[in-house]
Amino acid sequence: MSGSIPRQFIDDLLVRVDIVDIIDSHVPLKKTGTNYTARCPFHNEKSPSFNVSRNKQFYHCFGCGAGGNVITFLMNFNHLSFVEAIEELALSCGVEIPYENQNPNTPPQQAKNKLLELQQLLAKVATFYMQQLRNHPQKQIAIDYLKMQRRITGEIARDFMIGYAPEGWQILAPNFNIDLLCEAGMLAYKNEQYYDRFRQRIMFPIRNKRGHVIGFGGRVLDDSQQPKYLNSPETPLFHKSNEVYGLYELLKKNPKPNRILIVEGYMDVVMLSQFGIDYAVATLGTNLTATQLQLLFRSTSEVILCFDGDKAGQDAAWKAMDAVFSILNDNRQVRILLLPEPHDPDSLLQTEGAEAFLQRIENAEMVSHYFFNHFTSTLNLNSIESRAKLASQAKPFLLKLADGFFKEMMLTKLQELMNFNVAPILNKETLPLPPKRYIKKNQNTRHSLERLTLALLVQNPRLVEKLEVNPIDWQALDFIGIEKFREIAEKICAVKPATTAQLLEHYREMPDEKILNILACLPILLPDEGIDAEFSGALKQLILHGRKNRLAKLQIKATTTEGLNDYEKGVLLQLLRETS
Ligand code: UTP
Ligand code: MN
Repeated sequence: MSGSIPRQFIDDLLVRVDIVDIIDSHVPLKKTGTNYTARCPFHNEKSPSFNVSRNKQFYHCFGCGAGGNVITFLMNFNHLSFVEAIEELALSCGVEIPYENQNPNTPPQQAKNKLLELQQLLAKVATFYMQQLRNHPQKQIAIDYLKMQRRITGEIARDFMIGYAPEGWQILAPNFNIDLLCEAGMLAYKNEQYYDRFRQRIMFPIRNKRGHVIGFGGRVLDDSQQPKYLNSPETPLFHKSNEVYGLYELLKKNPKPNRILIVEGYMDVVMLSQFGIDYAVATLGTNLTATQLQLLFRSTSEVILCFDGDKAGQDAAWKAMDAVFSILNDNRQVRILLLPEPHDPDSLLQTEGAEAFLQRIENAEMVSHYFFNHFTSTLNLNSIESRAKLASQAKPFLLKLADGFFKEMMLTKLQELMNFNVAPILNKETLPLPPKRYIKKNQNTRHSLERLTLALLVQNPRLVEKLEVNPIDWQALDFIGIEKFREIAEKICAVKPATTAQLLEHYREMPDEKILNILACLPILLPDEGIDAEFSGALKQLILHGRKNRLAKLQIKATTTEGLNDYEKGVLLQLLRETS
């Protein structure tokens, strides 16, 4: 939108601000030893497991697993996007962001002004439509429809800024700037004429998270008219697949909802709110996207996907799994709620009331259960063929999952269903996971040597000096996860981050973000002065172990028919020479 922010600026910003000060101004911190603690703002708890480290410039909650640098904190705590969080940080230390311009023809300020103009216009149009509902000579048709046919109260109509677009082709043009109306998608063009896109419809303004109107949905008053709903087209302000209806209204009532319900229709969101269930949003007539889920997970840790029980709803639920699996992680929960046919939330609430609906929400199915049930309900797992089918169909979804316990447990479940070890066929290199109990606070745990070495490096990036003095001869090593280990070690050598926080910033939204976070949080109970020696010792042991492994594998390969190539022969000779 306004160009990108240079990496160097972000690196500098992370050195300039102190995470302890910033978090302390949102959540009062208490100094305990070298760290600062508080009760975690991201989940309910009685005793504090939320830790902030000044050295690492990093926070981590041992209770819920939340963690990251100061940018992550602001994004999660204040529901900000990445850019918004940077803007807030820059503002707090009084520096200006040197936006890099992607398109030299649109200076950022000009583009920003245009968006602002469009926003201002749509705010006025929304108010105009609301006034029509109160003042237009034909207002009674619309009021009757809302009151009698949809049973919407005046109060809820006001909360959602519901309005009325009267009959007529030239209602908006005389009142507003035509060019802006066009750009905002409010006019359509035919036979060399502009005319109002929305006519004789109930208008639902769609607001973004900050409360700016960015588009509209309009419903016909008379069901014989087509299409039943008309939405704003894509505009510079409005991207259907990135937005949801009702998020601003929801966050206004409750900035930290325990859960968010995603439904299919505008009317469903409005009616749920009227029945006191004011934590629902709707997609805008398209399939659910990962961007929409990300947007919601910035404000909550649980999302419930609610679909009508008909065939279309069932298909939509399954289609949503693509997006769901690409954003699920250990801190996020997704459940599925299929309603009985032929209902949608609106009609079901009118029929059975709020209590029964809340019960349905309580009983919504875990996504893991829904996912496997989708296969097991149709496949007979007694045959090898259907078990193979299960594995091949489930595989693409499971591969999308971020590394972590949820993924491990899904793999274990698949294994159970197949009665077969599937790890090799998934064939994805990961570092061996530390014992599951590592999450518990203050527990001395044994980490795999690979993890320990890498975690020490991630948590104390100054240790790269040691790698620079004694470069690792990767070709002479082999151990589990060596590729990943090497990638990360080389990245740290290249980036030379001042703190863990800076390093993590280079992994934001990258495939290895999760693994870096795990490494950054791995509790290593060592006094500061013992870190260097521990790292040198661990590295030495890892290299020894890696060389032994490599040697053994080369020796085995030498006895096979394939044999060794010249390069491998060289490595083998070198290893033999050095170990004798
Ligand atoms: P539904 O057809 O399920 O309608 O569309 P509904 O929400 O139950 O509407 P009411 O109760 O009859 O008023 C669900 C959603 O699909 C999109 C809209 O976003 C709607 O809210 N939709 C539907 C369209 O975009 N165009 C249409 O013609 C119909
Ligand atoms: Mn409906």
